[in-house]
Amino acid sequence: MAVSGRIIAASGNRGAHGTLRVLIFFTTYYLAFMYTVSGKTAYFLELEEKHGAHNYHPLPVVLQRGQGVHVWDVDNKQYYDFLSGYSAVNQGHCHPALVKTLSEQAARLTLTSRAFYNDVLGEYEAFITSFFGFDKVLPVNTGVEAVESALKLCRRWGYAVKGIPEDKAKIIVCANNFHGRTISVVSFSTDKSSTNRFGPFTPGFVVIPYNDIGALTLAAADPDVAGFLVEPIQGEAGVEIPGDGYLSQAKSICQQHNVLFIADEIQTGLCRTGKMLCCDYESVRPDILVLGKALSGGMLPVSAVLADDAVMLTIRPGEHGSTYGGNPLASKVAVEALKILKEEHLAENAMAMGELLREGLRSLQSPFIDTIRGRGLLNAIVIKHPDTDAAWKLCLELMENGLLAKPTHGDKIRLAPPLMITAAQINEAVGIVEKSLEGVKW
Ligand SMILES: Cc1ncc(COP(=O)(O)O)c(C=O)c1O
Repeated sequence: MAVSGRIIAASGNRGAHGTLRVLIFFTTYYLAFMYTVSGKTAYFLELEEKHGAHNYHPLPVVLQRGQGVHVWDVDNKQYYDFLSGYSAVNQGHCHPALVKTLSEQAARLTLTSRAFYNDVLGEYEAFITSFFGFDKVLPVNTGVEAVESALKLCRRWGYAVKGIPEDKAKIIVCANNFHGRTISVVSFSTDKSSTNRFGPFTPGFVVIPYNDIGALTLAAADPDVAGFLVEPIQGEAGVEIPGDGYLSQAKSICQQHNVLFIADEIQTGLCRTGKMLCCDYESVRPDILVLGKALSGGMLPVSAVLADDAVMLTIRPGEHGSTYGGNPLASKVAVEALKILKEEHLAENAMAMGELLREGLRSLQSPFIDTIRGRGLLNAIVIKHPDTDAAWKLCLELMENGLLAKPTHGDKIRLAPPLMITAAQINEAVGIVEKSLEGVKW
């Protein structure tokens, strides 16, 4: 999607309900288009336009409150949130138990740095390692930081354990991957908008096609390969689901060649796809598991790398770290966020509600929907329309009708609500999609 979402002008008049409506103009690479928003909305849009970096292109909606599957804008209009903070809000907006845990810990102790021990981190470490069945956890903040940490661990293991000659380690990655935005991580992105004029890049990555066991078999045979980094479903690429058996075969190829299987479950993990981890579909246990997003249920950035001692203990004190990594506030929230996933049976609900959602969307038989795909509540529809901005326009219409979703890669719209959504809410959401497909002016 080429829409940059930049407002280039605004002018006001009074709408049907007496609120000030403002016509805003968006510039895109292809066209400028107009959209009417309230005066309040325009105020916040213009602030971000004027004072913030222009590295996002949001829908023109300004949210001020959230609860469960719903969010409300500054004019108190209610929406279904079908993005869930890119799958960070699996537990639902402002989950009361998370709010309570966060506030209590915030009033007690928030940050010690790792120069000292605190009375929360150890219990979190014990909890999460037993929850996922690994010897150790490395606590960090954002998802990309967790991926970077996993890559460093993998390289270190390659030298210290596998015996790869110094500075020769390679890590295999997949085309159309999305693992975050740092220089090293975009170094192996195949998406031009992630790499264009950000070079020079970090060497040592081998890109193979996704869902291609033959290519992995060839690449993994290179003795300098230390790891294979993979998303069990490529979320940002538009919810690309690999063929059955891909993950288990990939794991076994890695085992054969003494290559670490690194699963980036930042988006697919924590019940989003109908299982605790997406790798669970094929009973695959990664050598390095990377988690983020819903590890805090949307409260604050909390991510983690999990591995056994043979890998994790190759990094020693002073060789890696982060000021906020493992802070008591994050640690306390993460324990609660994980408990909620289990106690509220969110994997089971995601599985059932995902099926209902896809069934409902299929029943619409819309000529404008080319494909409906997904697992659990990580879903996408692919729009079929000659207008290259069709998906963006449909998202504007969905927003108008009370459902927030965002296009990815032009023609795909991800549908990923919080995981406690009910059947009645799914049916209502499908109704909104139907109405929007009928109402949108392409
Ligand atoms: C699979 C995957 N890995 C890594 C990241 C990066 O996470 P963060 O934005 O927290 O750095 C994302 C974010 O969308 C992701 O989906």
